[in-house]
Amino acid sequence: MTGKSSNRAPADGAGKDTNIIRGGRFGADPCELMQEINASVDFDKRLYVHDIAGSKAHCAMLVSQGIISEKDGEAILDGLNKILQEIGSGQFTFKRSLEDIHMNVEARLGELAGEAAGCLHTARSRNDQVATDFRLWVRDAIDGLDEGLKNLQSVLVDQASAHAGAVMPGFTHLQSAQPVTLGHHLLAYVEMFGRDRSRLKDCRRRLNECPLGAAALAGTSFPVDREMTARALGFDKPVANSMDAVSDRDFALEFLALAAILAVHLSRLAEEIVLWCSDLFAFARLPDTLSTGSSIMPQKRNPDAAELVRAKAGRVIGSLNALLVVMKGLPLAYGKDMQEDKEPVFDAADTLALSIAGMGAMLRDITFRPERMRQAAGHGHATATDLADWLVRALRVPFRRAHQITGRLVTRAEQKGCRLEDLSLDEMQQAEARINDGVFEVLGVENSVKSRQSYGGTAPDRVRSAAAEARKRFLE
Ligand code: ARG
Repeated sequence: MTGKSSNRAPADGAGKDTNIIRGGRFGADPCELMQEINASVDFDKRLYVHDIAGSKAHCAMLVSQGIISEKDGEAILDGLNKILQEIGSGQFTFKRSLEDIHMNVEARLGELAGEAAGCLHTARSRNDQVATDFRLWVRDAIDGLDEGLKNLQSVLVDQASAHAGAVMPGFTHLQSAQPVTLGHHLLAYVEMFGRDRSRLKDCRRRLNECPLGAAALAGTSFPVDREMTARALGFDKPVANSMDAVSDRDFALEFLALAAILAVHLSRLAEEIVLWCSDLFAFARLPDTLSTGSSIMPQKRNPDAAELVRAKAGRVIGSLNALLVVMKGLPLAYGKDMQEDKEPVFDAADTLALSIAGMGAMLRDITFRPERMRQAAGHGHATATDLADWLVRALRVPFRRAHQITGRLVTRAEQKGCRLEDLSLDEMQQAEARINDGVFEVLGVENSVKSRQSYGGTAPDRVRSAAAEARKRFLE
């Protein structure tokens, strides 16, 4: 397209189309290049449902306030319903010469409703119109993502309940730290997605005010009823200041900010899947349907879907950054710069919907290998903290001293190439004379997790009740 652009007048007879925006003000039509840089319809046609809903609410209000006649109102509503159906069934021809979704709908309305169509834009500007459409679109996107996250949480809680007692290594610095259960690990993500959902809810609450009636920036001289349009579109109230209504996009920024955090959560979980499925860990296996092969190495099973979810966080973070930069330094009120608000938001919402669905499928159909996890949980002297805690409890040794004694025993086990529980009582007593047989009871990985009974801890009983409680909090 760009290659063909020129500053010549467009060949498609755009004059008739542009007339509805340019009125009698211009001598010549915009050239192709101007159209290409200016038009947004290629992407903002996605707003059509919301654009038409906004126009219907505006039209009903104009009639009810006696600003336009009932007859014109009816012709407009009929036309809008027809356009909704035409676009929905793919019969509508979008024209770049009409710039955006708003003018495309209005021009078609002119064809269907004749002169009456010209009354719809009374007491309205594209500035309050687009701000309204976009809020409505983001609100729907929020509801869709919330539903998706709820499904993902449900898959995670099911797996967590099924593996509440499955012991696996817990890591810090990606080094064996202390044994945990798989259920506990998965429930950590249920909490993260729960906070993402609460951020969605906050964002929805703050964006749920209606810009309609702000007109271009200053409000309108017509006796509009802004409460009425707000109510009709499911908003809590009209935006209080007309300049704010048309010029801020903080609702979109807030959406992108929470989207970026959510993408980071998904990315971290994706990374766990990648690690767990590597044959060095071998904690899990993705089904054939969710794995890919290598064109050269016949043995490979690659977790591409997880890798892509991990990578897609980059796009979402980029979208937030893009819109922040667009908005910074813009003076009030509307500036055409703001047309650049939509693509990053659309892309972030699409990316997240797909990533959430992908993670749900992977986590539902993954096969965990508890025997491998259990085996790995015993590596790296992961119960050393249990030994130190036992010294504190049984022998009343201060923790710092217990840490030292245990450190010596770990070194001893390392030298012998054995596990802590394989040291003899004699060897233990060389580090601390009062150690007795009781110590062996805390050294196995099962005993270790069972002992972590504190609220929020990894003991299997705790995990079972945490899963039940998460079900109540997030899924009912
Ligand atoms: N397509 C425009 C946008 O997305 C609609 C608003 C146009 N307003 C204007 N004053 N030109 O921002």
